Amino acid sequence: MNEAAAYHDALGDFFATNADTSPYNAYTDRPAMLQLAGDVSGARILDVGCGAGHYAAELAARDAQVVGIDGSETLLRHAEVRVNGRAEILLHDLEKPLDFAADASFDGAICALVLHHVKNRVQLLDELRRVLRPGGWLLISTTHPTADWRRFGGSYYSHDWSDRPVAGGKFSIHYQRMPLETFLGELLTAGFVLERLIEPRPAPSLREIDEAAYDKLHQAPCFLAVKLQRP
Ligand SMILES: C[S@@+](CC[C@H](N)C(=O)[O-])C[C@H]1O[C@@H](n2cnc3c(N)ncnc32)[C@H](O)[C@@H]1O
Repeated sequence: MNEAAAYHDALGDFFATNADTSPYNAYTDRPAMLQLAGDVSGARILDVGCGAGHYAAELAARDAQVVGIDGSETLLRHAEVRVNGRAEILLHDLEKPLDFAADASFDGAICALVLHHVKNRVQLLDELRRVLRPGGWLLISTTHPTADWRRFGGSYYSHDWSDRPVAGGKFSIHYQRMPLETFLGELLTAGFVLERLIEPRPAPSLREIDEAAYDKLHQAPCFLAVKLQRP
């Protein structure tokens, strides 16, 4: 297990609660990614790094058959409660092959704010290609490279691993910043075809509850999201 990257214990509990209402997760990443997913009714979807099950629950509510995987037992406990039997939830280290899944056994895969935590991304992307059926789709969101550049400074082209403080410095999350050409290049090298790239802005409803966050997220991008096709 990439122990430094999965969200264990108190960090997991913090993420599970924060992701319910956070301007970043609830109002920016999730609405944009779910819109990219479109109609998922009847689709078998792998939720890669499912965290507390926010996506799995939304996708199951839209009549998808969801398998959620994550390396944090803490978050999987939250996910089990949130999906309430409507999705399958499995403990899995994303540094390892997806050996529980047969070739071409999923119509789609969603990997929200997870890929930058993974060291062995080449293996993970190869595995996602293997388990998706031809014509299947892959949705990925990640930290925006310019947001990391503003946050950490130094070179835009840096591939440094950093421990970024969250919750006012109470916890930190471990991930790798990278320029856009690395993020997209790895996806294309793995054999996926880019269908759409967006720089999500928050949903209008954020304005009513947190105008400052709404304005900030409309000026400076925080995430990138892409929809890819498995040929
Ligand atoms: C920012 S959270 C995103 C969770 C969820 N996709 C969402 O958007 O609500 C990142 C997730 O990646 C998981 N993760 C990080 N490294 C992992 C690894 N090596 N194996 C499995 N899960 C990992 C963490 O435990 C955490 O749930």
